[in-house]
Amino acid sequence: MAQITIDSVSKVFATARKRTVALNETSLTIDHCETVCVVGPSGCGKTTMLNLIAGFIRPTAGSISLDGREVEGPAADRAVVFQADAVFPWLTVAGNIAFGPRMQGMPRARRAERIERFLDLVGLSDFAKAYPKELSGGMRKRVDLARAYASGPDVLLLDEPFGALDLFTKETMWTSLRRVADAEPKTIVFVTHDIEEALFLGDRVIVMTPRPARVHSVVDVPFGPDRNLDLRADPDFQALRIDIAHSLREVHDDTA
Ligand SMILES: Nc1ncnc2c1ncn2[C@@H]1O[C@H](COP(=O)(O)OP(=O)(O)O)[C@@H](O)[C@H]1O
Ligand SMILES: [Mg+2]
Repeated sequence: MAQITIDSVSKVFATARKRTVALNETSLTIDHCETVCVVGPSGCGKTTMLNLIAGFIRPTAGSISLDGREVEGPAADRAVVFQADAVFPWLTVAGNIAFGPRMQGMPRARRAERIERFLDLVGLSDFAKAYPKELSGGMRKRVDLARAYASGPDVLLLDEPFGALDLFTKETMWTSLRRVADAEPKTIVFVTHDIEEALFLGDRVIVMTPRPARVHSVVDVPFGPDRNLDLRADPDFQALRIDIAHSLREVHDDTA
């Protein structure tokens, strides 16, 4: 189980010359096995929010808890995927996926099973023995995703993971992520500035205000679990996309 509770969290970055309020009394509850996509203007505090949930940084005020236990630092129950992939270049694809389970002391037979399962889920079964440098950017990203999943976290935190990929590759990543998430449901927080990506992947889309970030609006995504890329042509999908684009423009105008 993994429900994330963000309770009146503020984060202030203070240096000798500057004080930046990145989050201002932000509250949000993310349900067990829900996928929440967070969109908001650049610099509004999305990464800060993710880093707080990951436990890389601590709130200035308020608290974040996982199933009622306060987050006090990073732990194996939360895996993070960034835009830059974090695959180890000296390990094969299988070696990368095996890394987390190996560190956790998972028995060899179960580990092998898990590697095979994730290779299959992300469509890299034929590349088990390949090294990252032999792979395309999209394939490396799939290794990254499988690596994060295979370590068995309760929560997956993704910070614009597909931001550097071309549109076609990005679409295949959406399909891969949905496939893995269906096979092994987790609580997912996905930060993106791509509204279509948020609508395609999310159960809810959270629109943040400009810095200091708070929740501007919450959109319930009405599409079921079986989504294919054609969903984007659906009038309901487009209507929601336009709504969210308007909200984002609105929040921008407020600060202009
Ligand atoms: N470690 C830090 N020290 C000082 N300021 C920071 C730090 N991290 C983020 N900030 C500031 O906090 C604000 C929010 O940043 P961030 O969370 O990265 O935004 P986003 O991910 O939405 O683009 C920005 O103004 C950024 O410059
Ligand atoms: Mg960011």
